[in-house]
Amino acid sequence: MACEDLVFAVNGEKFEVLSVNPSTTLLEFLRSNTCFKSVKLSCGEGGCGACIVILSKYDPVLDQVEEYSINSCLTLLCSINGCSITTSEGLGNTEKGFHPIHKRFAGFHASQCGFCTPGMCISLYSALSNAHNSKSSQSSPDCLTALAAEKSIAGNLCRCTGYRPIADACKSFAADVDIEDLGFNSFWRKGESREEMFKKLPPYNPDKDLVTFPDFLKEKIKCQHNVLDQTRYHWITPVSVAELQEILATTNPGGDRGLLKLVVGNTGTGYYKEEKQYARYIDISHIPEMSMIKKDDRGIEIGAVVTISKVIDALMEENSSAYVFKKIGVHMEKVANHFIRNSGSIGGNLVMAQSKNFPSDITTLLLAADASVYMINAGRHEKLRMGEYLVAPPILDTKTVLLKVHIPSWIASSTTGLLFETYRAALRPIGSALPYINAAFLAVVSRDASSRGIIVDKCRLAFGSYGGYHSIRAREVEDFLTGKILSHSVLYEAVRLLKGIIVPSIETSYPEYKKSLAVGFLFDFLYPLIESGCWDSERKHIDGHVDPTICPPLLSSAQQVFESKKYHPVGEAIIKFGAEMQASGEAVYVDDIPSLPHCLHGAFIYSTKPLARIKKVGFGGNVAPLGVLAVITFKDIPQLGQNVGYISMFGTGLLFADEVTIYAGQIIALVVADTQKHADMAANLAVVEYDSKNIGTPVLSVEDAVKRSSLFEVPPKYHPEPVGDVSKGMAEADRKIRSVELRLGSQYFFYMETQTTLALPDEDNCLVVYSSTQAPEYTQSVIATCLGIPEHNVRVITRRVGGGFGGKAIKSMPVATACALAAQKLQRPVKIYLNRKTDMIMTGGRHPMKITYSVGFRCDGKVTALELCILIDAGIDADVSPILPLNIMNSLRKYDWGALSFDIKVCKTNLPSRTSLRAPGEVQGSYIAESIIENLASSLNMDVDVVRRINLHTYESLRKFYKQDAGEPDEYTLPLLWDKLEISADFRRRAESVKEFNLCNVWRKRGISRVPIIHLVVHRPTPGKVSILSDGSVAVEVAGIEVGQGLWTKVQQMVAYGLGMIKCDGSEDLLERIRLLQTDTLSMSQSSYTAGSTTSENCCEAVRLCCGILVERLKPTMNQILENARSVTWDMLIQQAYAQSVDLSARTFYKPESSSAEYLNYGVGASEVEVDLVTGRTEIIRSDIIYDCGKSLNPAVDLGQIEGAFVQGIGFFMYEEYTTDENGLVNEEGTWDYKIPTIDTIPKQFNVQILNSGHHKNRILSSKASGEPPLLVAASVHCATRSAIREARKQYLSWNCSDGDHRRDISDIGFELPVPAIMPVVKQLCGLESVEKYLEWKTYP
Ligand SMILES: Cc1cc2nc3c(=O)[nH]c(=O)nc-3n(C[C@H](O)[C@H](O)[C@H](O)COP(=O)(O)OP(=O)(O)OC[C@H]3O[C@@H](n4cnc5c(N)ncnc54)[C@H](O)[C@@H]3O)c2cc1C
Ligand code: FES
Ligand code: FES
Repeated sequence: MACEDLVFAVNGEKFEVLSVNPSTTLLEFLRSNTCFKSVKLSCGEGGCGACIVILSKYDPVLDQVEEYSINSCLTLLCSINGCSITTSEGLGNTEKGFHPIHKRFAGFHASQCGFCTPGMCISLYSALSNAHNSKSSQSSPDCLTALAAEKSIAGNLCRCTGYRPIADACKSFAADVDIEDLGFNSFWRKGESREEMFKKLPPYNPDKDLVTFPDFLKEKIKCQHNVLDQTRYHWITPVSVAELQEILATTNPGGDRGLLKLVVGNTGTGYYKEEKQYARYIDISHIPEMSMIKKDDRGIEIGAVVTISKVIDALMEENSSAYVFKKIGVHMEKVANHFIRNSGSIGGNLVMAQSKNFPSDITTLLLAADASVYMINAGRHEKLRMGEYLVAPPILDTKTVLLKVHIPSWIASSTTGLLFETYRAALRPIGSALPYINAAFLAVVSRDASSRGIIVDKCRLAFGSYGGYHSIRAREVEDFLTGKILSHSVLYEAVRLLKGIIVPSIETSYPEYKKSLAVGFLFDFLYPLIESGCWDSERKHIDGHVDPTICPPLLSSAQQVFESKKYHPVGEAIIKFGAEMQASGEAVYVDDIPSLPHCLHGAFIYSTKPLARIKKVGFGGNVAPLGVLAVITFKDIPQLGQNVGYISMFGTGLLFADEVTIYAGQIIALVVADTQKHADMAANLAVVEYDSKNIGTPVLSVEDAVKRSSLFEVPPKYHPEPVGDVSKGMAEADRKIRSVELRLGSQYFFYMETQTTLALPDEDNCLVVYSSTQAPEYTQSVIATCLGIPEHNVRVITRRVGGGFGGKAIKSMPVATACALAAQKLQRPVKIYLNRKTDMIMTGGRHPMKITYSVGFRCDGKVTALELCILIDAGIDADVSPILPLNIMNSLRKYDWGALSFDIKVCKTNLPSRTSLRAPGEVQGSYIAESIIENLASSLNMDVDVVRRINLHTYESLRKFYKQDAGEPDEYTLPLLWDKLEISADFRRRAESVKEFNLCNVWRKRGISRVPIIHLVVHRPTPGKVSILSDGSVAVEVAGIEVGQGLWTKVQQMVAYGLGMIKCDGSEDLLERIRLLQTDTLSMSQSSYTAGSTTSENCCEAVRLCCGILVERLKPTMNQILENARSVTWDMLIQQAYAQSVDLSARTFYKPESSSAEYLNYGVGASEVEVDLVTGRTEIIRSDIIYDCGKSLNPAVDLGQIEGAFVQGIGFFMYEEYTTDENGLVNEEGTWDYKIPTIDTIPKQFNVQILNSGHHKNRILSSKASGEPPLLVAASVHCATRSAIREARKQYLSWNCSDGDHRRDISDIGFELPVPAIMPVVKQLCGLESVEKYLEWKTYP
């Protein structure tokens, strides 16, 4: 067979790769060998969707093209031989015109930082193309449905938008969407007819807008085989099982697979990171015997290399005997995400589960359905039933190949009923999260002639992923149930037996929760049969519970946005600057800057000990791994420099650990290698020898820090002031709650772009540093200090940042500094792009804290005094932590506490330093306030909403608590927002229906909660520069960084408005002629940092002042022209001004006056949730927010900020666990264990209203900040969950049984709901033993 070169197409362009390491991924190739940069690296493990592309395959026999989405971070380059790849810029771009998908993403304001956007566009494109293709092949589904459109992005993560606008952009392509339901966009305005709206949407024509397969590849495929030259590629593509057997036989005769790797989709490396270098890869996906799907009466046979997506299609096909198959198919749709299912094979899953104990869903399903697998080893065929297969010796240690799977048909007889149900409890209901446990149950039932009860004739009960070694059958329970007539007592005995069988291994988290889930699932399966006395294959779950995967799409949001033309174009919902370019992936982030020749790459070696001497840093066998050029430590810092990695207003921190490491996660060294992959691998292989003798014990808790007086000083400026006399307030109280303890955990930023820097050495000891930072000026300063050179030698440039949220202020500095140090030392360009795990370990996140409070209150719910003791865990460095006490108190003061006193300590511990994460301290302060209010309402047995209202400030008390920041009485809009939301959210009526719902449902409880927020923001001095160029175009520089918050767009609008003041012809349409430039610290000095929500406003004011200067300079020229002409155009004016040498560049430095530097933001949010008492899952049914934006500078941008912040807040309150181990090393490492919200975990209905409150002379065009405050509103979800749990506990306690309480996991209604309120936590509070208790109660009433 002739051997070939590796040839494929990317966006229609031919690529021929003459040799390559077979472990090279498609992403590595695209990013380093092509100009296509829309494929982003964010997680590198198949869990985020930033890197996905469309893969098209041509079948020469059928003359058909098949196309689907795949991830490029795990797909191996050699596996795409002969394929065509389309990236987002391949769909459309600046040059050939944007694709309608790009245009609609821009128009629906669905891109903020833009890092996730190309991947989102590809997901949507893939759904459109699937819909189009199924239209030609099937009769029924003719177009994309709204549900499919929404689900298309279920595997994609976005940290900025909150998904709602993305869902709208996607649904705008759906055939069944009511266009009026789509959210706010720039295409039409409310009130236009449906026809008009349709006309205004960028048109989509599948025949034109779907990509075509390149002809040159078709020709190649028609005349050549898919066989690569082994000597150049080390990639073998057998086309029969016999050939595969021959290859295996000649390798390592008699032994194992050695350095051979069988591969299909290679998605397994997303979980089991590749540590080994293989000599050869055998791509088994082209073997026809292993790729077939055969169906007959006896069942379905599926080749091992068939992708999960194709398995689902086959199982879901119409067929009368397909009941069990369909159920399996539906469950499999929740395995991973669409792009992993499109490339991952069923065999790969089964092998990982069997040989490496991967927590597979598929093995559990197949075990319940009594499937068998067929294998071959050295020509010997073997068939094993799933149960036998799972306990056989690991096949990965041998040359065994899994050939196919057989699932038998299950058909009920005329007198029996066949039941099959599957379960999984995961943080994300429709996929993209491994389950805490999964289960699949099959039962054959019939009616007992005498009792008329339902008898179990046969059952198979399978459980998996719970922390056992593999999926198992609960045989004792099966045996117990077989032949029994179902009753409460039988079920009770069955679940008791089950608890002895589901035994998670010691290292498994939440073992009791997992057991209780197993019990709950079995209960859900059998209990409806007992209750209804009949069976039905389309059976209902308990309480008529609906499977979340078949829920209708999100309800569209009824945002109300007020646009104002007063300061045109300021105040209008202008599309974000560069949004289409972000969607096509052409927007350039630091890692997209083309690498210079000889560019090196760095990766950090970090400490894993909290306090130890570093004896030695090296590599195993003392041999530097492949590609390593240097290992840089503190010893490499120049003599005139300092070992400094960051500076903030509170001091500095080390760049490298010196002789002693002082926290786990501290940078010990930077490995510099020829590629990022080699640098990362080397850092992984590094061996650090520690010595912990006689060095003392690290401080790892706030309690210990207090005991050892390990505290940071808080400068007086940042001391919050107490209010009133607390002893007096306590004396006035009717009741008191004393010394309640609360704990709040941390949160990780999860920006989609991790920390990145590119440093280029320049002449005369100078450096140009491209950094993904929110603080370029400080970065410049710290690099200069570290290298011992003047600051003017360091030019730090930042164009845009792929999400920051505060994490790229202080925490970007060590990355940039280490990179600059390496570049300076090696005199070569150096790039560092942190992998997700290192980023998570090093960046620290939000401040955990311990709170103890005592509160006094009257019987009517009015608080009279509050006393707090707060211990903040700041970690090892001060960072920005000393601002926390003030921030906490600023938001906590939102209620009138009567009198308030506190003792706040900022504790220094041997943990990574915590830093500012969106609303640092404010979100905790606001939450602490809610927790206290909840507690006292519960102790008074009062409606908490009433207690909140009673304690809302009057203007007088607001002044008492906020002094001059309270502003004028009419600025205090909170009571107005509170009342408005009551009406717009229909709060009262819904609160009543929640009560009714709770009465009617046993296993689901709802809660509704309304929460106010007050958030203080501070303006900062900011420079700006506006230059008018000779052709009339305008270049603008601001100190703020575009992190996705829409700063550039607002500034662009402000410049258009400011220059428009000249009022000549064309000056009202300047928007398009204004370009924002990247921030350059040598061009724009004193640029400070981007933080605190007011950067956009500050930058706007700075450029407005510039424009004022320019307009004044232009006026004489204009008047001169007007002396001889009736009108003057902008171009004419500028030409003339140039001719007259008018200075058309202005720089200003905006310094807010102390009287107007601070102001208060107000908002109210209400959320309704439903808690599933079996799993502990909380579904957010609806959230409503009203937020006072002053006079919004751009309502579309502000709306995006509000929604995005709220959803990030949901993450903090409900999902994201960011924890450390006993050494203080971060436990979570990536997308597998850190779960930010996804499209399926945001509110099902999400209504946001912007209140355009009145004119304010001291605020910038009367605007207000929107970046951080709305995050606080997400506490409403947590409070509503608490309310639902309270109902569950009341019900639990009402189940009194007569046999004596021998097991009680709930003894009263009172409780604290931890943050985050993840499923195990919620379930535990609802009663881990609720099923047993209920059955006991039913059995022995
Ligand atoms: C982000 C992500 C999320 C996921 N979520 C889930 C989930 O929720 N539930 C779930 O069940 N699974 C989940 N998975 C696992 C997924 O199903 C598997 O990764 C996939 O099925 C593996 O198939 P593959 O073709 O990519 O295997 P590969 O990665 O190509 O191979 C995996 C291993 O099996 C060996 N191998 C493959 N085929 C054979 C064969 N026929 N004979 C012998 N050895 C073979 C390979 O040598 C390799 O060691 C997830 C995976 C990812 C990446
Ligand atoms: S980078 Fe590939 S899926 Fe996240
Ligand atoms: S816009 Fe989605 S991650 Fe920033």
